[in-house]
Amino acid sequence: MLFSAFILASCTNNPKPASEEDRFIDELLGKMTLAEKVGQLNQYTSRWEMTGPAPTENKGAQDLLQELKSGMVGSMLNVNGAEATRKAQQTVVENTRLGIPLIFGYDVIHGYKTMFPIPLAEAASWNPELARLSSQIAAKEAAASGINWTFAPMVDVGRDARWGRVMEGAGEDPFLGSEFAKARVQGFQGEDLADELTIAACAKHFAGYAFSDAGRDYNSVEIGNETLHNIVLPPFKAAAEEGVATFMNGFNTINGLPVTASSYLQRDLLKGEWGFDGFVVSDWNSIGEIEIHGAAANLKECADRAIKAGSDMDMEARAYIKHLEELVKEGQVDETLITEAVRRILRIKYRLGLFDDPYKYCNAENEKKLIYTNENRAAARKVARESMVLLKNNKHILPLATNAKSIALIGPLANDKDSPLGNWRAKAESQSAVSLLEGMQAAIGQTTRLNYAEGCKLSIGPRNFTDRMIFNESDRSGFTKAVAAARKSEVVVLAIGEDCYQSGEGRSMTDIRLKGLQQELFDAIYQVNKNIVVVLMNGRPLAIPEIAEKSAAILEAWHAGSEAGHAIADVLFGKYNPSGKLPVTFPRNVGQCPIFYNYKNTGRPTGMTDAWVLYSCYNDAPNSPQFPFGYGLSYSTFNYDNLVLDQSSIEKGDKLKVKVSVTNKGELDGEEVVQLYIRDIAATYARPVKELKGFEKVMIKAGETKEVEFTLTEKELGYYFPCGKYVVEPGEFQVFVGSNSVDVLQEQFTIK
Ligand code: GLC
Repeated sequence: MLFSAFILASCTNNPKPASEEDRFIDELLGKMTLAEKVGQLNQYTSRWEMTGPAPTENKGAQDLLQELKSGMVGSMLNVNGAEATRKAQQTVVENTRLGIPLIFGYDVIHGYKTMFPIPLAEAASWNPELARLSSQIAAKEAAASGINWTFAPMVDVGRDARWGRVMEGAGEDPFLGSEFAKARVQGFQGEDLADELTIAACAKHFAGYAFSDAGRDYNSVEIGNETLHNIVLPPFKAAAEEGVATFMNGFNTINGLPVTASSYLQRDLLKGEWGFDGFVVSDWNSIGEIEIHGAAANLKECADRAIKAGSDMDMEARAYIKHLEELVKEGQVDETLITEAVRRILRIKYRLGLFDDPYKYCNAENEKKLIYTNENRAAARKVARESMVLLKNNKHILPLATNAKSIALIGPLANDKDSPLGNWRAKAESQSAVSLLEGMQAAIGQTTRLNYAEGCKLSIGPRNFTDRMIFNESDRSGFTKAVAAARKSEVVVLAIGEDCYQSGEGRSMTDIRLKGLQQELFDAIYQVNKNIVVVLMNGRPLAIPEIAEKSAAILEAWHAGSEAGHAIADVLFGKYNPSGKLPVTFPRNVGQCPIFYNYKNTGRPTGMTDAWVLYSCYNDAPNSPQFPFGYGLSYSTFNYDNLVLDQSSIEKGDKLKVKVSVTNKGELDGEEVVQLYIRDIAATYARPVKELKGFEKVMIKAGETKEVEFTLTEKELGYYFPCGKYVVEPGEFQVFVGSNSVDVLQEQFTIK
């Protein structure tokens, strides 16, 4: 094989200087025909279980097999397992003229087989190191299964709870989102992309996807450049600066232009200004959807617009494989554009080590010993505990005593072993999560009676990635047993929230209250026992005003992964002192959406007078949320004082030091996320009333005081003008430090 000569020629054990990479790629490019180049830009999903032969009656499979053998495919997605990926790889390496290896992509979003909490939950830990750890483990399990590329991290800043994919990101703030974007890229890619247990990451969806109108997935996006540059883009830029290997564009338009066809985003900004040297993959058929948006007359024009805009690889639109050669021959598209796209793809394959050994990830030994291990599951439990947010704890009803006489565990999610796995669950086995019932059974003492009752089912229809859910609106047959269990117990733990398929892709909702009979179940229990500890398991902020008012305690547990039950029990029984903080605002009702902490003041901010309606307010609800961004309680109590700035005014370019003392007034050691926000009071473009610019999670022993210090530099104090220029402006700034975005100490300084 001609290509095998390349492998021999290039296989050296010495670390290759960058120029060696370029030389190798230049030489390979020089050998490639136009058809072979276009083949590298083409990505297909698996159309049969690759471990077996292509089914002869399946035309799609036969076509795909032929295309694989003829060098028309550069990448595949959804091929899983050492054997399956080896077979697919062999089909290409051994049958095509140049034997250029495939790169295998997969949605490893929050774990491969060991499920970690959904990304929104991990962001609630405000501990990026946990996200790095979970991504590192997910990469190991994926790589051991033959996969060398994940379509993660999703770094879309999400402000609208109606949008189902808010579960997949790091919440509403660009600063927190940037920190988690960096951590996930580090976790997936490690120090060396060629390591057989690290994989290429993918920052998605570039860009603005979460701002879809009305919170409806795939809908149009209309945002100003100031929002684009200050809110949407920072986590993408952070991922690019961290060396993410790939980007994925998106389904949406921004102000009428499909992002897949945006040369500004993909060429000027990403590949130009940011110097990104990896490649951009389209989202599934997002190239073909340019036509459906009404921005191309046919698939050929889609291909023309996308390649010119810098969308390098075509996921499942078949636009490139069908039309690019023709477009080049007609002189519509310059072959250099295609060569440049191929170069970027070959570069990542090279850095993954696929040219040295196309089968390095197809290691059945690794697959046997590295997946779903006790160590990985222990890590999942640790991450889950730290992701949980204590939203209410009246009279310190939590932590529960493990020797309590009787505890009722009730609710449709109490004995659910599947929903905790979350949506985007990769290769997690259904029903494999530790349920809350199992977790509590393992945690309670011998003398405690655990009275379990389901109360009601949540859903009665299909549960999968694509079908619409049907909720139980009428079967109350379990209420009697549940009320009886509550009546005879000292305290009730009520597990409610969302089925995991209620959030995720395509799961937009117009109503974010509890579905089905869950609120009714709460009300029925409340009649006989007021000591209700609500455990929320959900993928998005929910509107729970009655629960917030009447419950004794609320623990936001999210969809917490494979070890959910143990992790929740660890928190409920005080084995772990909860330290999570909300990465998203919880609205009082869906009418407040989109709602976020970093809003602009407006010319008529709330609080002028209640009697008046002529200010920026609602007439039927306060502007304030149910629970604010950054909010979360602890079993300890933290007091803040002595907020001190080391200068009252600074020159541009100077640093400002901010110090605060935090005292743990409680009886338990605990972690506190100390948050720092700023406000530029008078800027050329009105800036938000608060902007998160620092946070530090500190362990403070009971009775101890810790001093926490932040440094503010131009990097934190400036902002992007609509033109995209980053500017630090003189004037008055406020500094806020506190336990969340509302309860803060405040100081002021001037930039001269
Ligand atoms: C989906 C998603 C994207 C995912 C891709 C491949 O439609 O939008 O996030 O990575 O297709 O599954």
